[in-house]
Amino acid sequence: MNFPPDLIRFLTKTERIVVLTGAGVSQESGLSTFRDSQDGLWARYKPEDLASPEAFTRDPKLVWDWYAWRREAIKGVRPNAGHYALVEMEKKITEFTLITQNVDGLHCLAGSKNVLELHGNVLRVRCADCGTLTGTWGDDTESVPRCEKCDGLLRPDVVWFGESLPRAELESAVSAAREAQIFFSIGTSGVVQPAAALAHAARNNGSVIVEINAEPTPLTPKVDFAFHGKSGEILPELVKALT
Ligand code: OAD
Repeated sequence: MNFPPDLIRFLTKTERIVVLTGAGVSQESGLSTFRDSQDGLWARYKPEDLASPEAFTRDPKLVWDWYAWRREAIKGVRPNAGHYALVEMEKKITEFTLITQNVDGLHCLAGSKNVLELHGNVLRVRCADCGTLTGTWGDDTESVPRCEKCDGLLRPDVVWFGESLPRAELESAVSAAREAQIFFSIGTSGVVQPAAALAHAARNNGSVIVEINAEPTPLTPKVDFAFHGKSGEILPELVKALT
């Protein structure tokens, strides 16, 4: 791919880069995105049945099992070339912040260091009542496991619809976006708030905006550079062009 020389020049000089990723970055690892019209998770399941506090109250076992299924799927995959390219990019940049909406932990597994998980991590489990994180739970298939401390139901440590994002992560993400010189939006449809607003916060503060996504998104008309294709192919080429 031929990248615009202006972008390469700017990237080699820049000190502060912020990257926002979404499910598209993990697609080439074999994980489903959410809004793909054929096999996106939200084409096959209803978010209101599975990803809200109301759903968990109504049918905790259904919700627990769905996340257990996703957790197992994630355990069976590896980071892809896009994740590894972001690890390389971080090594070249003085201040690099990787904000992800993904709950699969693949950026950290690849070796990215400064990662903000805005929507939590499905590999972590916590008590729905007292919030205590736990690394072990019984695998009784009949019922949802319970907290050893308070006997509350265990749930995945992810953000559901209608819930607030983790405060510290969100604050760090907003301030990083406001100070970014280059902001990348990668593999995200950019329709879920408040993550989607980060690109606009960066742009309003003078950042160059770059989109790498399989298809155009609502953000595309506002970006300085848009590359449409697979992040696992474009990112390694981009990082190579920097060396
Ligand atoms: P989406 O499924 O909404 O968007 C994924 C985007 O990635 C789409 O625009 C695809 O075109 C693009 N894409 C697919 N494969 C790609 C590839 N190989 N390379 C580059 N781009 C590719 O997923 P998100 O934007 O992550 O929230 O969704 C945001 C949030 O909505 C999720 O974190 C989740 C969901 O509801 C919660 O669960 C709270």
